[in-house]
Amino acid sequence: MAIHPCLPLLLMHIVLAPHAFASPSPVQDPELVVQEVNESIFNASRRNLGFLSCGTGNPIDDCWRCDPNWEKNRQRLADCAIGFGKHAIGGRDGKIYVVTDPGDDNPVNPKLGTLRHAVIQNEPLWIVFARDMVIRLKEELIMNSFKTIDGRGASVHIAGGPCITIQFVTNIIIHGLNIHDCKQGGNAYVRDSPDHYGWRTVSDGDGVSIFGGSHIWVDHCSLSNCRDGLIDAIRGATAITLSNNYLTHHNKVMLLGHSDSYTQDKNMQITIAFNHFGEGLVQRMPRCRHGYFHVVNNDYTHWEMYAVGGSAAPTINSQGNRFVAPDDAFNKEVTKHEDAPQSEWKHWNWRSEGDLMVNGAFFTASGAGASSSYAKASSLGARPSSVVGSITASAGTLGCKKGKRC
Ligand SMILES: *[C@@H]1O[C@H](CO)[C@@H](O)[C@H](O)[C@H]1NC(C)=O
Ligand SMILES: *[C@@H]1O[C@H](CO)[C@@H](O)[C@H](O)[C@H]1NC(C)=O
Repeated sequence: MAIHPCLPLLLMHIVLAPHAFASPSPVQDPELVVQEVNESIFNASRRNLGFLSCGTGNPIDDCWRCDPNWEKNRQRLADCAIGFGKHAIGGRDGKIYVVTDPGDDNPVNPKLGTLRHAVIQNEPLWIVFARDMVIRLKEELIMNSFKTIDGRGASVHIAGGPCITIQFVTNIIIHGLNIHDCKQGGNAYVRDSPDHYGWRTVSDGDGVSIFGGSHIWVDHCSLSNCRDGLIDAIRGATAITLSNNYLTHHNKVMLLGHSDSYTQDKNMQITIAFNHFGEGLVQRMPRCRHGYFHVVNNDYTHWEMYAVGGSAAPTINSQGNRFVAPDDAFNKEVTKHEDAPQSEWKHWNWRSEGDLMVNGAFFTASGAGASSSYAKASSLGARPSSVVGSITASAGTLGCKKGKRC
């Protein structure tokens, strides 16, 4: 796993965003954010009991999907996130940019109306699509800060070429895209802002590659079959929420944390909520290093090797997920403590609270909280079975129609 940004591009970004590069700092007290997420799930499921509510108990969806005028109020979505990425405003305060051209002929001088022309602009933009389209990028799509890519109302596929790169920028929302069959790009010049382009070496071929960025929210995307990770976040990336995504047909699904020796990732805070980890997945859902990871109310229906794991003492807080183990008797364990002897990993704080274990699945907890959270887990037992199925039923892209509830 290595991204090698070219030197001019790298230097440019250091000048633009010294803070993000030098020392990413944690956004908030992780436990407070966890409590807030729990409270909003609790609030949403309570509202759901109301007779006239269209809500599902999914607090993100219930925030906007009941609005038949969602298409006129697109930018309201920006206020619906929960968890560590909740302050990502994307292009909320900017103009709407309509992509009309699926082409990507010239990654250095992109044409007006293309997705690449939209994402490199300096001002905030809320980017939407005029019609259904398949966008086969020629090179990585290198985003500038304060952008939302909003696929609602069209069927948009970013596929068959390099895909999305979020590098040293902030306030990005990616919503409602099909991202699949992503390939390597590189050994080419690519523009990343109106006033700068740089040389890119060969990229990994991730679906969404987050490299040192912060305040990022990826919601309701369908991701599958990329060359490297479906979503990777490395090199000090933090303040991220990955929610309501549907992930399928892939080996190394999510890598969160660059390497065991890259200790800047200690500040990494990522919420993984309401996703469906589905058919054809093998491992790393996610694989974590160093930071703080809240894995809440996801539906794990398929894995071959393991679901949640990592190395370098990450804190993993697994709450209210449904883990359905494969039939293979040797791969029932949800967790994998990697690259360390038990004498070391027994101190890593991994806990399971209210998770529903199906078909022999089991979670190996570790660290100080292990025994006390086990007691707590019993009291939460009823929550996941009633909530996870309905809360993740529409994970992935939605078929939103103008003038109708989505
Ligand atoms: C979640 O919130 C509910 C309602 O506020 C509370 O009863 C429950 O104890 C909370 N659980 C956790 C794990 O914080
Ligand atoms: C949950 O509902 C209570 C009472 O309506 C409200 O005060 C609180 O802010 C809500 N919390 C969240 C996280 O939405």
